[in-house]
Amino acid sequence: MNIRSIAVIGGGTMGNGIAHVAAQHGYDVTLIDVSQAAVDKAISTITANLDRQVKKEVLTSADRDATLARISTSTSIEQGAQGADLVIEAASERLEIKQQIFATLDAVCKPEAILASNTSSISITTLAAGTKRPDKFIGMHFFNPVPVMKLCEIIRGLATSDETYATIKALAEGLSKVPVEVQDYPGFISNRILMPMINEAVYCVMEGIASIEDIDTVMKLGMAHPMGPLTLADFIGLDVCLSIMEVLHDGLGDSKYRPCPLLRKMVAAGHLGRKSGKGFYAY
Ligand code: CAA
Repeated sequence: MNIRSIAVIGGGTMGNGIAHVAAQHGYDVTLIDVSQAAVDKAISTITANLDRQVKKEVLTSADRDATLARISTSTSIEQGAQGADLVIEAASERLEIKQQIFATLDAVCKPEAILASNTSSISITTLAAGTKRPDKFIGMHFFNPVPVMKLCEIIRGLATSDETYATIKALAEGLSKVPVEVQDYPGFISNRILMPMINEAVYCVMEGIASIEDIDTVMKLGMAHPMGPLTLADFIGLDVCLSIMEVLHDGLGDSKYRPCPLLRKMVAAGHLGRKSGKGFYAY
């Protein structure tokens, strides 16, 4: 299938990054969120990130203007997604919300349209099973910041067809991403490996093994990670980290995935990282 138009559901960090990259690579994009305020905020974030690319001379101002001109917005899934060849859902990480969105999409989208989720940990097979097109359902897991990070995990649900996989793999390459094919198991590859590392770093804090700064320094300077695990946890959001650990723990049933009690306590206190102004560090 030849994809020309992409609808992105959700204008948050991941959604606005996906819309940005898709429009930059020539696709007609419709960015959909629940309110005009959310949509406006997403467009101003995209504009700021495009301006940053112009300043760094990775993009011309004409390319920035053309990218913005390719993005239209909507506050209605029905209207915004009905003509799309592909819909990428990047709404909040709650199963019921995603299931409701996909039920609506399944009803209004063209029969040949592909439905994709950017979920970081919810089962693609489960989401696909709620639609009448599980063969045309797939996971496209991008990484924050989307315009910078090269990876796209492509997750095959149990019923995802070879044709859908081939179309989405080619699309990801067309977005200048490096696709990696992953079978649908909890946490896929990225979060199966990343989150236990972050969780272990939180245990190191809880057990008083070293200071927060020193734990990050060890992983930055010893392992050449761009961010230490606790800085990265703040960047991702501690609530997101906790919820992914719970998915790993429930889905794989192994006690090695138990969330660190300190992680639970910080989330309970509302210390969620950058987005709340306080996590392991103050912002
Ligand atoms: N849009 C466009 N460009 C951006 C950007 C954005 N949102 N954010 C940063 N950039 C660009 C900058 O302009 C800069 O460009 P140049 O290299 O051309 O100068 C480059 O990215 C680096 O940015 P900075 O100089 O501002 O800062 P930095 O060197 O400290 O890098 C970082 C910032 C790219 C975020 C880097 O620290 C990094 O790679 N961190 C790790 C991020 C990571 O692990 N992300 C994955 C999180 S997990 C996830 O997303 C999925 C999940 O399921 C939880």
